[in-house]
Amino acid sequence: MYKRVSGTKDILPEDIINWQGIEEICRKTFRLYNYSEIRTPLIEDSALFNRSLGQTTEIIQKQMFIFNNKDESYALRPEGTASIVRAYIENNLDKSSRFLKFYYMGPMFRLERPQKGRLRQFNHIGCEAIGSYDAYLDTEVIALSDALLSRIGVKDAKIKINTLGCAADKAALAEKLRNELEPCAELLCEECRKRLKTNVLRILDCKTESCRKIVQGLRNNKQEYLCNDCRNHFDEVKKGLDSLKIKYTLDHNLVRGLDYYTQTVFEITHDSLGAQDAIGAGGRYNNLVKELGGPDLGAIGFAFGMERLMLSLKTKINLEENKLIYIVTLGKEAMLSGAQALEILRKNNIAADMDYEKKSVKGAMRRASDLNARYALIIGDDELKKGILTLKDMQKGTQTETTLDNLIKEMKC
Ligand code: HAM
Repeated sequence: MYKRVSGTKDILPEDIINWQGIEEICRKTFRLYNYSEIRTPLIEDSALFNRSLGQTTEIIQKQMFIFNNKDESYALRPEGTASIVRAYIENNLDKSSRFLKFYYMGPMFRLERPQKGRLRQFNHIGCEAIGSYDAYLDTEVIALSDALLSRIGVKDAKIKINTLGCAADKAALAEKLRNELEPCAELLCEECRKRLKTNVLRILDCKTESCRKIVQGLRNNKQEYLCNDCRNHFDEVKKGLDSLKIKYTLDHNLVRGLDYYTQTVFEITHDSLGAQDAIGAGGRYNNLVKELGGPDLGAIGFAFGMERLMLSLKTKINLEENKLIYIVTLGKEAMLSGAQALEILRKNNIAADMDYEKKSVKGAMRRASDLNARYALIIGDDELKKGILTLKDMQKGTQTETTLDNLIKEMKC
C-alpha cells in the first residue's frame, strides 16, 4: 500500500468546509483592505532564496527542497515573500504605482522534521504591501492579521511585536550580544554555539531552557541600539495599534528566523498548538526590494500557516445555509425521473444529489441527514402516477407534496 510522503497531509472532505471557509473569509477581508491576489510559481531559482532569506538561516542551511537540472538549481518555494518581491521587480509593477498591496494563498515546502503543526508541505495565507515606509502601514498590516483571525473565529490568539531596527541597529545589537554571550558559550545549546558565529540574534528566541535562562539574564537593553528614526517608527506603530485597540505584547527577544527583516517584526501564537505555537508571523523588510535588484522601497507583510489556523479553530465555519436537496427514488422509472429532476435543479443553481447506491428509503433518508441536506425529495410509484413529488423538510421533519416548479420557486426566494 502506498502512503503519503512524511510531512504531507491529505485534506479530506470533512476538513474542506473549514478550509474553504477560511480561504473565502480571507479573500473577502483582503479585498476590503484593498489587497489584490498574486500567484507565483511553486519553483524558483534557488539563488532567489539564498539571497533573500540569508545564508545562515535554518531554511537555507537545511530545509530547502532543491533539484538540479544541468547547470540550473531550482527550489520548491519555502515561503512567499521573496517570490512576490521577485515578481514585483520582474514584471515592473512599480511602474504603474510604486505602492501595491498583494495577498496570496498556496503551498510552501520545507524539509523539516515533521511533528504536530510542522509539515514539509504546508500552506500560507499571507500578504505583502510594497512601496511604503510609513509606520501606519505596519499598524494596518498587524490590524489586518487580527481582523482575519476574528473573522475566521480563532479565539485567544496572542500578538507579540518587536523592532529589530535598521541594518545598522541590527549589526550594533549583534556585536554587543556576541561580546556578552561569548564568555558563556559553553552553556549555550549546540545550535546556539553555531549561531554565536553565524546569526547571533537568533539566540534571543531559542526555545532551549538553558539558552532562555542566559538570554533572560542579559544586562543589555535591546532598545538601546535603536537609532532615533527606528525608535520613532516603532513608537508610531504602537500608537497606531493602541488607537485601534489592538491587543499586543512587547517581546524584545522576538527576532524571527529570516534575515530580511528590519524594524517591526511580529508573531501570532495560539496555546492550543503545543511546541509549534506560531499561527502566523511577519514584519518589515525595507532592504529586500533593493537587494533583489529593484528600487529602494519599504515593505511589510505576514503569513499565516493554514494548517495551524485549522488546528486552532475549534468551531465549524458556516458561511451559508446548506441547501442541498437529496433525491430518494424507489424503482427504475423513478430513478430516471430523479436524474431529470437533478439536471433541472442544478440548471437552476440549486445544489442537488441523488442516492446512487439503491439504499432502502430509511437508509437513503439517513444519508440525506448525514449530508445535512435541507430537503429530501422522494419519488416513488405514487408520485410518478400523480405527477407530484414528496418533499421532506429535514430540519422540521414535516412532509408535503409539491411540484418541481414550486420547489425551484421556493428555493430561489
Ligand atoms: P514564517 O514564520 O517562516 O514566515 O512562516 C509563517 C507561518 O507559516 C508560521 O507562523 C507558521 O504558522 C507557518 N509555518 C511555517 N513553517 C511551517 C511548517 N513547516 N509547517 C506548518 N506550518 C508552518 C514567513 O514565511 C514569512 N514569509 C512571513 C512574511 C510575509 N514576512 C513578511 N511577509
